Amino acid sequence: MDRIRRIYRDGRKLARLALKKRVDLPREFQIEVTNRCNLDCDMCPRLTLLKVPEVDMTQETFDAVLGRMDAPESVTLTGWGEPLMHPRLFEYIDAIKAKHPDCAVGFTTNGHLLAPGMVKKILSRPVSRVNVSLEELPWENALAAPPEPPEDARRGNPMKGGDNRVARDGHPTPPKVVDHLKHFLAERNALAARGEPAPEIRLQVVLFPDSAETVQRLVDFGADLGFQAINVVRLDVRGRPDLTRPEPEEERQLIALARARAKARGIPLGSVNDHGWALRLGSHNDRFCMRLDNYVYVDVAGNVAPCCLLRGHHLGNLREQTLGEVWNSAEFKRFYGPGIHPACEGCDAFMHGYHHETTGKAGTSPVTQGSVS
Ligand SMILES: C[S@@+](CC[C@H](N)C(=O)[O-])C[C@H]1O[C@@H](n2cnc3c(N)ncnc32)[C@H](O)[C@@H]1O
Ligand code: SF4
Repeated sequence: MDRIRRIYRDGRKLARLALKKRVDLPREFQIEVTNRCNLDCDMCPRLTLLKVPEVDMTQETFDAVLGRMDAPESVTLTGWGEPLMHPRLFEYIDAIKAKHPDCAVGFTTNGHLLAPGMVKKILSRPVSRVNVSLEELPWENALAAPPEPPEDARRGNPMKGGDNRVARDGHPTPPKVVDHLKHFLAERNALAARGEPAPEIRLQVVLFPDSAETVQRLVDFGADLGFQAINVVRLDVRGRPDLTRPEPEEERQLIALARARAKARGIPLGSVNDHGWALRLGSHNDRFCMRLDNYVYVDVAGNVAPCCLLRGHHLGNLREQTLGEVWNSAEFKRFYGPGIHPACEGCDAFMHGYHHETTGKAGTSPVTQGSVS
């Protein structure tokens, strides 16, 4: 059912984008339930560029936001932190589903807290989608001779070097996380095999330079464990200009490699940076960001921004204003064109094209990078 609804939604979205028609009220919400995190990934801009407040959304703010949402189609309960750290995450999921039974509710997690008790809670809820972020797998037992880690200060750090040799700037992946994921997927897939509702679980992988082998291992891992899909994501370095991302040609090759491997293993793989004809049509060949027609980002304080990457660009607050007031303000409409909004200049997070110049200074607001949904 969720799948049919999604195909219908995607079809309508494409038609809207092709016709450059913005919705009357947004139906896709990303809610920053917390900015606290149990990790501190080097690539993540939360404490560098964004300097997010490390707090949870309060019950009062959540209630206000829930009260303002009108027939939401999807809610992603993830901001710049780890959603499973919010003590009321499951109550929030229940509250959204009680009010909007048809709404697809999901979140993105680093997987470190997916112990069996947590898995039980997730699978007993009407969760539609869980994205799990992973850039590396432990090398032991997998390869006789893993690649040598580069010489740098992190070499001796077991969380940033050692087993994590290629993507050590992404999520660290101790063997414990692999065990959690094996159990999570096994439980999820057993539910689905019994015909019971089960979330779609996707593997989300940020692409690093020299990671061809790692990416193929991750695709195999996704297929072996029975993930429903894999999503590969462009590394954005504006929050950490000292990091390097794959050049466009290498990125293209990594995506092609991942696609070929995924096809051979029978697991769907997508990338928002590798536009097929449909996305090219929707984005008017990169002249338009596909995030902007039906979506809002709501931060821990109820402030509304046009995108997760522009969380500092406040266009209103749902504690004080209705969604319509915020969405239909001239300032918000300006993001929809004509032309690219100055705050979006230099951002290629959701683009097919690749910007060579990536600095944290692009645009007029605290622009950051990465894909947080
Ligand atoms: C900010 S995290 C929040 C959710 C959770 N803590 C996690 O890591 O999955 C959401 C997504 O942003 C991605 N991300 C973080 N930094 C990024 C960067 N510099 N470039 C691209 N994606 C990034 C992560 O890989 C993750 O999939
Ligand atoms: S990417 Fe996710 S896990 Fe890593 S520091 Fe950022 S919010 Fe935390």
